[in-house]
Amino acid sequence: MPTTPTGSPAGPGQQGTHLTHGAHPHVVPRHPRLDPLADRYAARTHGMKTSEIRALFSVVSRPEVVSLAGGMPAVTALPLDAVGSMIGDLVSGMGAQTLQYGSGQGDPRLRERICDVMALEGIRDASASEVVVTVGSQQALDLVTRVFVDPGDVILAEAPSYVGALGVFQSAQARVRHIAMDDDGLIPEALEQALVECRANGDRVKFLYTVPNFHNPAGVTLTETRREAVMAIAERHDLLIIEDNPYGLLGFDHEPMRALRARDSQRVIYLGSFSKTFSPGLRVGWVLAPLAVREKLVLATEAQVLCPPSLTQYAVARYLDTQPWREQIKLFSELYRERRDACLESLDAMMPAGTTWTRPDGGFYVWLKLPHGLDAKRMQPRAVNALVAYVPGIGFYADGSGREYMRLSYCYPEPDQIREGVRRLARVVEAELDLHSTFDAVDTGTFRAVGRRASGHDAETIVGPANSNAYEDGRA
Ligand SMILES: Cc1ncc(COP(=O)(O)O)c(C=O)c1O
Repeated sequence: MPTTPTGSPAGPGQQGTHLTHGAHPHVVPRHPRLDPLADRYAARTHGMKTSEIRALFSVVSRPEVVSLAGGMPAVTALPLDAVGSMIGDLVSGMGAQTLQYGSGQGDPRLRERICDVMALEGIRDASASEVVVTVGSQQALDLVTRVFVDPGDVILAEAPSYVGALGVFQSAQARVRHIAMDDDGLIPEALEQALVECRANGDRVKFLYTVPNFHNPAGVTLTETRREAVMAIAERHDLLIIEDNPYGLLGFDHEPMRALRARDSQRVIYLGSFSKTFSPGLRVGWVLAPLAVREKLVLATEAQVLCPPSLTQYAVARYLDTQPWREQIKLFSELYRERRDACLESLDAMMPAGTTWTRPDGGFYVWLKLPHGLDAKRMQPRAVNALVAYVPGIGFYADGSGREYMRLSYCYPEPDQIREGVRRLARVVEAELDLHSTFDAVDTGTFRAVGRRASGHDAETIVGPANSNAYEDGRA
């Protein structure tokens, strides 16, 4: 079983560190001649960087490129005419109210309906007064981080983690400590070990950030046994949990799992979103939090945006009131299942030995590990040349590890495009392997055998930085 790395925290950019420091002691002027304001930026601004996903935008929008990169929901599967006339009716029927400022906490009717949605994942005790509507769950992440995190605080997060959360944590100048995962999700023993070590180091751990269902980017789901174990650890160590759950209703094989929040209403703050089950363009998400926290979140919202947009909140509430949204979620799940199958079948058929990947049973993503010694970031220009795009794994780690991984999204392209994309990718990996063995032969005078794919193509354990370092050592 992989373990989280041990050892004391290291400074920013140091290889092998598992605690990344967002706080910069000095503001260092950058490119003062290119940007005359460069020496005026806040320390946190210097830590901001383009995400691996946004960096790919110009490439993936070319029609000849098969993009397995972006996590865009298949909104064309929505009944667009019905949604269009529903929004039209909304403005003509409700009039000025839809175009006016609203409350900082969000529309009460929508908050009621959000409680119905959460009940599908076992959260039956939530009241609308504990819900804060946000501009997508991305704003929810930002609000929660603002409310809890000071520069230098530690946030525990899975290895790998959602890139948008890492961006928020970085701008709050938090230090992220990654916790190893495997096919069953976050490893409870690794979580406990991290907590013990953080306590010994005197670190202020503010919360665990976790995506228990159909993880972005790992594609895995926290098992029932592990959910219990994680909650028991949280209880023992008085740990706050941020449960980020945009994909939980998009399972392929079983009923939605019981949320962590359903097990503890005080220790878990729950983030939800309509981006994957309805529309990401409406930008409607929410936080469910104990009343005292909710107060702070509303204050933080008011300072940030005054209130969430009225029109899109009414649109979501009306959609939930008048449209068959549960059936629509089933339809989405069927569509994503078909795309997942196309992706896994072509990976099984075409990927060279030594490549492994996860087998998601819901959501949007497959997490792929390249054969030993290959680097997804360095391989990326070749892949783009071959007209296929993916997201290199390093974007999903706060400490620069994960070079041997990539995220493949099957949510957006049609099944045939997915098959073609995987075919192109397999060729790129093969060419890279050839190149690699040639250089190995030059370096060492021998050809090194490339590892075989595990029987059944089960995913290899997803590892945190400790094993990534082993990989770095192996290349030396
Ligand atoms: C795990 C996770 N959290 C949060 C978000 C943000 O979603 P939104 O702001 O659209 O609700 C995403 C989007 O991909 C995600 O994958």
